[in-house]
Amino acid sequence: MAGVRKKVGVLISGRGSNMTALLAAAAAPDYPAEIVLVLANREDAGGLATASAKGIPTACVPHRPFKGDRAAHERAVAEALDAAGVEIICLAGYMRLLTPWFVGRYAGRMLNIHPSLLPAFPGVDTHARALEAGVKLHGCTVHLVTEGMDEGPILAQAAVPVLPDDSEEALAARVLAQEHLIYPMVLADFAAERPGSAPSPGAVLCNPLPAPPAVS
Ligand code: GRF
Repeated sequence: MAGVRKKVGVLISGRGSNMTALLAAAAAPDYPAEIVLVLANREDAGGLATASAKGIPTACVPHRPFKGDRAAHERAVAEALDAAGVEIICLAGYMRLLTPWFVGRYAGRMLNIHPSLLPAFPGVDTHARALEAGVKLHGCTVHLVTEGMDEGPILAQAAVPVLPDDSEEALAARVLAQEHLIYPMVLADFAAERPGSAPSPGAVLCNPLPAPPAVS
């Protein structure tokens, strides 16, 4: 019998393709987490409609009415998460800087996906910056959220090549495909409280790697 599934809240600000990947994974009966809430800080976040259409509870807590009172906005977000019984938060394109209060409240149980091989290219415009820097490998990172932006302990990364004449869009799409593979994989391991072990089958290069075959 499957164990108790961890309750996950996904925070988004936009299209929510990573959220959709998490929902798809969590649809499997043996997935160790269930998405109990998708919350956005923008009413026009496309991911809200996607989640609703799949029957997932959604909430919108727009930040604008709080007029710069970041803490008050976060208290409202936390209330919604608490009301849904959220145990683990997955940030998935949630474009808000978080206060130490919010980070501390969810310490050790808040994940983020970032579109670069951290610690390279924290912050925004990662694909353009990777092209500008001339790196030959780029990718994505799932990490625990700590107070420093994009600085928390790394749980998994997937790397992709940067090809000659790549456009920002082409590179972003190549990385995004890997994001959709590793985020559900990491959440599964995290929710099941097992160290990362499963490979991402479609990844060009993914760490953690599969366990080596046993030597007899
Ligand atoms: C992704 O590239 C993610 O890594 C970054 O924001 C983007 C969100 O895309 N944090 P989506 O909304 O999941 O499609």
